[in-house]
Amino acid sequence: MRGTRLPATILGVGGAMLALAAPALARPRLIPAPPHRPALHRFLGRPGPSPWPVRPQIGAPGLGDPFFPLAGNGGYDVLHYGLRLAYDPATGVLDGSADIAAVATSDLSRFDLDLSGFTVGAVSVDGRPASFTRDGQELQITPARPLRRGLPLLVSVSYSGAPTPITDPDGSIEGWVPTTDGAFVVGEPQGAPGWFPCNDNPRDKATYDISVTVPDGLTAVSNGVLRSQRSSRGRTTFAWHEAFPMATYLATATLGHFEVAQATVAGVPSYVAVDPSQAADAAPALAELPDIVSYFSSVYGPYPFDAVGAIVDDAPDVGYALESQTKPNFDRAPDEFTLAHELSHQWFGDAVTLTTWPDIWLHEGFATYSEWLWGDHTGQFTPQDAYDYYASLPADDPVWDPPAGNPGTPDALFSDSVYIRGAMTLQALRVKVGDPAFFRILRRWYLGNRYGNVTTPQFIALAQRESGQNLGAFFNAWLYQEGKPPV
Ligand code: ARG
Ligand code: ZN
Repeated sequence: MRGTRLPATILGVGGAMLALAAPALARPRLIPAPPHRPALHRFLGRPGPSPWPVRPQIGAPGLGDPFFPLAGNGGYDVLHYGLRLAYDPATGVLDGSADIAAVATSDLSRFDLDLSGFTVGAVSVDGRPASFTRDGQELQITPARPLRRGLPLLVSVSYSGAPTPITDPDGSIEGWVPTTDGAFVVGEPQGAPGWFPCNDNPRDKATYDISVTVPDGLTAVSNGVLRSQRSSRGRTTFAWHEAFPMATYLATATLGHFEVAQATVAGVPSYVAVDPSQAADAAPALAELPDIVSYFSSVYGPYPFDAVGAIVDDAPDVGYALESQTKPNFDRAPDEFTLAHELSHQWFGDAVTLTTWPDIWLHEGFATYSEWLWGDHTGQFTPQDAYDYYASLPADDPVWDPPAGNPGTPDALFSDSVYIRGAMTLQALRVKVGDPAFFRILRRWYLGNRYGNVTTPQFIALAQRESGQNLGAFFNAWLYQEGKPPV
C-alpha cells in the first residue's frame, strides 16, 4: 500500500504527520478439491467439446486490459498451477518447473503463456513435447496436436535463470526482488511472469501448489497452508497449497531468514514470518493481527481463505506492502494501519477482485476505508474524522486527481487519490444511505462476489438496490469527475 496521509492528531499521537507506510515439492496434485470447488465448477459449466474436425486458432497474446493489454492470454482458462522452484541466493539462480492444468476455451493451434526472462528448457502439452518461441513476455507454445475447445490440457514448462525484477509504469519494482538473504516476491500488477509462466490476468483465478527448495536455514513462505517441510542434502523444501481461487498477482514465494510463528486465528492456521531484523519493530502491530481478522470478519463476513498470516521482510528497495493471498508481504515492519489495510484486502482485492485494472479503487479505496474503520474500532479516530480532514484540503491537492474511479494511465494506478478519494467515496455513501444500508452493501458485495471478479457498475447497481436510492449522479461526481468533488 501507499502511505495514508492522516494527520497525527487524528491518529492520537503528537508530532509530525505519520507516514503509515513507505511512499507512498512432491509432485503437485492437479485439480484439488477446495471447499467450494469453484475452478471445477467453471470447468463443468463449459460448453462441451467442439465438433470434429477442429478449425484451430492462435490464442490471443493478451486479454485486452485497458492498462496491460498483453497481460493474460486468450483461448484457455487455468484451473491449477503446480510450481516447483529451487532458489539459491548465493548464485541468484531460480530453477523452476510449472505444471499448468487448464481448459481450452477455443480450438487452438497455438497459445501463449506470460513469462519474463529465464531460459526455457522444455515445454510439453499433455505429455507430448511442444515447440515454443519467445516474443517479449509471450511464451508462444505450439502443441504437437491442436487442442479442442472444452477439453482439459496440461502444460509443463521447465525454466531457469536469474530473475529480473519488473519495473512498473509508476517506477516501482516487483516480481522476484532479491534481498540480502533471499528474495521478496510480489506481483501487482504485473510481476507474476517474473517468476513463473502464467496467464497473468486477474480474471483467470486458479488454485496453486507452490514448493520452494532453499538452502537449509532459510525459509520459503507461499500462499495457503504448509503441506510439508523436508530437508535433504543441505536443502529444505517447503510445500504450500492454496486451495482457493487466486489471481496470479497475489502469488508469493518470499524467502530468506525468517522466524515463523504458527497459531490458529479465526479458526484457520496462521503463519507469521518475520525477518529477525524487523522483529522488534513489527511486534506491536503483529500482536493485533488476530483482532484485526476477527473485526473485519464481523463487519464484512467470514474470513475468505483457509490460512492467514503475514510476511515481514527487509526489502527497502520495494517501498510498499502487498496483499498476497493469505499472507500479505511487508517490505519492512508494518504499523497497525498498514497491517489492517493489507488484511482487509483479503476480502476486497483477493476474494473480490477487479475485472480490469482501472477499477483499482475497488481494492485500494476499500482497504483505506478499512483502516479508518479500524481507527474507529480502536477508539483512535472515526472515518468521518478522516473524511473531514481530507475534505479540508484545497482543490489543487493531489488527493483529488486523478479521480478514484478512472486513474487514466497505468502509472497512476496506485496514486493517493485512488486510495483516499476512493475511501472518501465510501464514507460519503455511508452518510447518504445510512449505516444499516451501507454495511449491508459491503457484506453483500463480499458474500455475493467472493472468489470472483467485479466491476464498478456492479457496485453502483448493488448500492442502488440496497439503498433504494438513485446514486448515478453521486457516484459520477465521486468516482469520475476531475477535481474536488462536492464534499
Ligand atoms: N496493493 C498494494 C497496497 O496495498 C500496493 C501495490 C503497489 N504496487 C506497485 N507496483 N506500485 O496498497
Ligand atoms: Zn492496498
